[in-house]
Order: sequence, then C-alpha cells, then structure tokens
Amino acid sequence: MELMSSYLISLLLFSFLVLSPRAFATEVTDTLGKGQNVTDGETLVSAGGSFTLGFFSPGVAAKRYLGIWFTLSEDVVCWVANSERPLSDSYGALVISAMGSLLLLDSSGQVVWSSNTTGIGSTSVQLLESGNLVVSDESGGAAMWQSFDHLSNTQLPGTKIGKNLWTGADWQLTSWRSANDPSAGNFRYMTDAEGVPQNILLDGDQVKYRTGPWNGLWFSGVTEMATYSDMFTYLLTSTPSEVTYGYVAKPGAPFSHVLLTDDGVFRHLVWDHSSRKWKVFFQGPRDICDHYGKCRAFGMCNANAPLASFCSCIKGFSPTSPLLWKIGDTSKGCRRNLMLDCGNGASTTDGFVVMEGVKLPDTHNASVDPSITLEECNTRCLANCSCLAYAALDIRGGSV
Ligand SMILES: *[C@@H]1O[C@H](CO)[C@@H](O)[C@H](O)[C@H]1NC(C)=O
Ligand SMILES: *[C@@H]1O[C@H](CO)[C@@H](O)[C@H](O)[C@H]1NC(C)=O
Ligand SMILES: *[C@@H]1O[C@H](CO)[C@@H](O)[C@H](O)[C@H]1NC(C)=O
Ligand SMILES: *[C@@H]1O[C@H](CO)[C@@H](O)[C@H](O)[C@H]1NC(C)=O
Repeated sequence: MELMSSYLISLLLFSFLVLSPRAFATEVTDTLGKGQNVTDGETLVSAGGSFTLGFFSPGVAAKRYLGIWFTLSEDVVCWVANSERPLSDSYGALVISAMGSLLLLDSSGQVVWSSNTTGIGSTSVQLLESGNLVVSDESGGAAMWQSFDHLSNTQLPGTKIGKNLWTGADWQLTSWRSANDPSAGNFRYMTDAEGVPQNILLDGDQVKYRTGPWNGLWFSGVTEMATYSDMFTYLLTSTPSEVTYGYVAKPGAPFSHVLLTDDGVFRHLVWDHSSRKWKVFFQGPRDICDHYGKCRAFGMCNANAPLASFCSCIKGFSPTSPLLWKIGDTSKGCRRNLMLDCGNGASTTDGFVVMEGVKLPDTHNASVDPSITLEECNTRCLANCSCLAYAALDIRGGSV
C-alpha cells in the first residue's frame, strides 16, 4: 500500500514534469527575432525559467513599464527599460527595428526607449538565465547591448558596479524614487576607485555610508561577507583598466541579488526556498556607527556602548570640545593630547597604537604601495609628518 501510493505520486509528478514544458512550448521563449514582438501581456522567459521579461505596473495600473523580474518573485524587478517614461496604456510593444535596434514603442508607434544599436546582419534578442537581456547581431555573435551594463536598483551575480577607466563607463545602482515609481531616486551605490577601493552609498552628492576598504577578501566594515563565502565569490577588480565590484554565485547557490532600497540602504538578499521569502544576508548601513563620519576625526564608534554614548576618542586623543561632547554633540571630533615630535630629529617618542577589529577609516585619499611590507609601511609613515596611520592592503597573506 505504502509503495503503491508513492509510486502513484511519482508517476503523477513525472507526467506533470514531462507534460508541462510541452504544454507551454509554443508560448514560452527566451528569444525575440526580427519581425517578432513582445506586447503587453506577453513575456520572454529565460531558458531555465529563472527570469521573466514583460510589462508591469509597480503601483498605479495606468503606468506601464517594461522590465525583467525573478519569475518566482514578481515583485523583484531587476531592470527597467522606460523607468523615466512610463506608458499610459497597455498597448506598448517591444520590437526589433529594421536598423537592428531594440525598441519599446507606445500605442502610437513612438519610440519610448531604444538600445541605440545598429546591426549589420539579423539582430536577435535573448533573455539569458543570468537575467541578462542581450542584443546581438547574427554576423558577429558579440553582444551589441546588454542590460547588465545598464543597472537599475539591483545588482545580480555577474553584474559589476564601478568604473572602466579606459572607456569611462560607470556602473552604479540608482534607487527607485518610491515603490510605485522606478524613476531615479536620490540614492546611488557605487565603487569608489580612489585610494583603496571601497563601496560608497550617496544621498545626492553626500556620502551616507561606506563599506570600508577592500582587504582582499571582504570590505573591512562588512565582515558578514566572510560568512557566506561558501555560496558566493566576491570580486573586487582593481587594475589600470577598471576598478569594479561584483559577485558570482557558486554552483547550487540560491537566487540572490543586491538591492539599493528607495530609502537608501543596500541589502544583499538571498531567496529562502522553505519560507519562499528573501532573507537579508547583510546590509549597510547596519547600525548607528555606519553613518558616515558619525564620531568625526579620531573618534571611535561602538554601537553596543551603554547609555547611547556611541562615540569615544581613540587612545591619546580627547574631545576637541569637551562641553559639546558632554551633551552628545560629537561634531568637532577628537584631538591629540600631545603634539607629535615628527620632524624634530631622531629622538622621537612618537609611535603607533594597534587597533584591532575596527572598520578602517575612509581610504579615499590613502596612498597605496602594494610592493612594501607592513614594517616598511610603518617606517615610511613614521617618517612622514602628514601620515596618520597605516594598515595592510591585503590580508590574504595572514596579517590583519
Ligand atoms: C506584433 O506582432 C503581431 C503578430 O506578428 C502583429 O500582428 C502586430 O502588428 C505586431 N505589433 C507591433 C507593434 O509591431
Ligand atoms: C539612446 O539614445 C538616446 C538619445 O541619445 C538616449 O537618451 C538614451 O539614453 C539612449 N539609450 C540607451 C539605452 O543608452
Ligand atoms: C580628500 O582630500 C580632499 C582634498 O584635500 C578633501 O577635500 C577631502 O575631504 C578628502 N576626503 C577624505 C574622505 O578625507
Ligand atoms: C606623506 O603622506 C601623505 C599622506 O599619506 C602622502 O600623500 C605623501 O605622498 C607622503 N609623502 C611622502 C614623501 O611619502
């Protein structure tokens, strides 16, 4: 009896699995060829079913957008074509023009969005299993345009943020204006290529959060990244041609994405199959100490400090304004208790204090020399009166 019923179930499951792709085979495709189109209500679905391209309305039904979303989580839209120019009815169409451009047309045939590509041969468009929409020319094969180069508020495995220093291409996440409106909001998340690379989150032109510099394995202020290294490989590329950050999913890793929320928080989210929900792996800002420059110069922030006294001065320093500091205004930061001897000859009493387990200060203006040892770095910093501190650039050798 036991055997019998499980046989029945597997037989039923089997026939469902075999039948269902056939049942849809005529409708579901990941490719758009010349002369074909995707109209409102129709979709492209990537070969393995992970991503869907189609028309959607995030809020008001009267506004229609063309986008790509996770098939199992329609609310997570990874890319939007016409984020600044919604269609006002459901008669839009995605077509390939005679010139080889991918075009989004409104009901009167006006171009609302274009890939701006020109094809020599026959152009085709494919939605890949990675979520990347690729416009390619049959003659070349190379992609003429891809959605992975035009980021919205979402980073997927395989996309990059940062800069191509040769072409000037600049990839960054831009928040939506609101949950109903995918047009550009105030927040941007990008890789800062200056000094030691780090990711920064901007509110307009103001830095609101930074991850801390890359240490070869993770960002110094996002130690959680180390926890998930079995699922993802994080990649910071710093070469003369590019400074970029991205990540790839290891085989068997669940669906994931990095979202820059409408209120300016970046979240690394992972799909949990059992609860059918997105779980936050890590995010920034994470706590009060992540607010940019919270304790100002030579201040140290501890989110777990008692009585909300998050800020203190590092060893050898005191509040610049003890009065303001007492009433909780730390905006003046801290200053040295004793002047440095620096520059006064050999008999110096200057030295360094070791600080462990902290997010490194802003490295935007730091100078980098990957060719010297930590000891040499110490000597060089001690001899330079404008040098404040030093740290290892890459901890993969062992030193932290
Ligand atoms: C889309 O394709 C259908 C069927 O081929 C065609 O009837 C229709 O005119 C096309 N629409 C647009 C906007 O190109
Ligand atoms: C295509 O070109 C137009 C006009 O130069 C520009 O506004 C638009 O952003 C371009 N589209 C893409 C996808 O780059
Ligand atoms: C970097 O240096 C510039 C020029 O001196 C200064 O304006 C800026 O505030 C510095 N940035 C940081 C993060 O220290
Ligand atoms: C001294 O340190 C400053 C700040 O780190 C740096 O910009 C400058 O190049 C250094 N000067 C020398 C001679 O190493």
